Amino acid sequence: MRARGVIAAGLAVALSGCNRVQTMLDPAADESRSIDHIWRLMLEVCGFMYLLVLLGLAWALWRARHRLAGDTAPRTAASPAEPKISHTLAGWTGLIVLGLVVLTTGSFLVDRSLARAAAPAVSVKVTANQWWWAIEYQDAADPSQGFVTANELHLPVGKPVEIQLASNDVIHSFWVPNLHGKMDLIPGRSNLIRITPRREGLFRGQCAEFCGLQHAKMALQVVVESTQAYDAWKARQIQPAAMPAAGDAAAGAQAFANSGCVLCHAIRGTDAGGTTAPDLTHLASRNTIAAGALPRNQGTLAAWITDPQRFKPGVNMPAVPLSNAQRAQVVAYLESLS
Ligand code: CUA
Repeated sequence: MRARGVIAAGLAVALSGCNRVQTMLDPAADESRSIDHIWRLMLEVCGFMYLLVLLGLAWALWRARHRLAGDTAPRTAASPAEPKISHTLAGWTGLIVLGLVVLTTGSFLVDRSLARAAAPAVSVKVTANQWWWAIEYQDAADPSQGFVTANELHLPVGKPVEIQLASNDVIHSFWVPNLHGKMDLIPGRSNLIRITPRREGLFRGQCAEFCGLQHAKMALQVVVESTQAYDAWKARQIQPAAMPAAGDAAAGAQAFANSGCVLCHAIRGTDAGGTTAPDLTHLASRNTIAAGALPRNQGTLAAWITDPQRFKPGVNMPAVPLSNAQRAQVVAYLESLS
């Protein structure tokens, strides 16, 4: 039974790699396509060279056996094979130089294309924390159009996006393989990554630098959508949270405001203004909670609030002391924050 469980788990992991939400082999942005081109060029050139080496080796082995079997006479210094070998070596050297020139030129061209900067249509600041992502949409021309969210990045398809990367604690790495290569987020320093997504879809990003206990559960959802869908999403996100009028959600808003939650989390439009944990203003518009560790629904929210350490051992969020009734009300409130 245990072996069957292990095989099933292995299959699930293998299949999750095939659903193409987190793979550099299915590029969905200009930058990842450039990287894909150089990757394929390197694979082809190096694969061709490797094949030639193996063919040479096979030929040498075959020739040595053949000679052992048929020709035991000692060779003289004036062997006719030597000029042939020096020609072969010269040809081989030429081929290696040619291969290196092709790879160097390809790398240079890809590097230039990645460095080419189009004026960004969207500016976002992503700040890494142990173990979640703070996401701040910025609008220099009209700061009222800026807003904060967490763990889910929305990008309009076909528009150049500039993402500023920072860290609040240790070094992390921003990596959404379908869109671009890796870029580190370093405390005290700001890095820039530019992405022009070309295909709509849901992609998975993953912190790619070991950053502590829950490094593996530091995921980022990236939604690339049409400009209309993005604008509608943005218009909703800019709004402060709606205050529920009555029922469990209203009681939950009260319980939330009176609990320790407000010391770390922010909900715009309420007194909750903490910045050391994810902004919850529109939590119910997101697919996951706990930086991709769990899907978002009533059950997972209740379980997470009851005992976060069970799902992410070492996480900074403590278990919140709430009665069962209060917890259900807080969950109803959080689920109303769409
Ligand atoms: Cu953050 Cu690994």
